[in-house]
Amino acid sequence: MSATFRLDRLLANMGYGSRREVQQRVRAGAVVLDGAVVTEADMKIVVTPDLPARLFIESAAIDPPPGLALMLHKPVGVTCSHKESGALVYELLPGRWRRREPTISTVGRLDKESSGLLLLTDDGALLHRIISPKHHVAKSYVATLARPLQGDEGARFAAGTLMLDGEDKPLAPAVFEPLSPTSARLIVTEGRYHQVRRMFAAVGNHVNALHRDRIGALALPADLAPGDYRLMTPADIAAVFA
Ligand code: URA
Repeated sequence: MSATFRLDRLLANMGYGSRREVQQRVRAGAVVLDGAVVTEADMKIVVTPDLPARLFIESAAIDPPPGLALMLHKPVGVTCSHKESGALVYELLPGRWRRREPTISTVGRLDKESSGLLLLTDDGALLHRIISPKHHVAKSYVATLARPLQGDEGARFAAGTLMLDGEDKPLAPAVFEPLSPTSARLIVTEGRYHQVRRMFAAVGNHVNALHRDRIGALALPADLAPGDYRLMTPADIAAVFA
């Protein structure tokens, strides 16, 4: 079911300015819907995904309406958390998107030194479906290690008994695949703090570089450069849960 909003509220919530500023833009004839200049700022708009093809402000298509989901190639050095120092992943998005309501949040986190596929959405229900342990969404990481693999990592990660330092609940079984003497893929379904780095620490190794290349069956697109993002299609969202 599609939500209906007053035009001025919708545009204000999408970061186009205060309600008053949006009303001024409507009065100035800057807003066009379905080819006709809009005269009433309080007209009701049914929010559908095709709105950017129909609604223009100063001749530019409006941003994706609420209910957006993005995939972003997080570069090393940017952070997902306001608690860490440094540039935030949100700074990789258009400035207007940082004023949106509902706000756009990351779906889980990648730590500052890790790179790869990061999802963002303003859809709270979608966010919870992806991060909820109930759905067991698998996250695939490629770890570059400081020391050679010992050969027992696969069994230890699969056991369902491995404990992380400072925790009292064993990790769920994880899938391990060696890629070279000092690199491996690890597929986990949980999302504990710095989980992959701490898993390798628990088996006596150290992660020098960590890259997430897949969430569910959704792979980081090869043509999505570090720092770039794109809108997720319904098929991309379905792939997360496949
Ligand atoms: N595990 C980590 O150690 N870091 C991440 O960013 C994600 C998983």
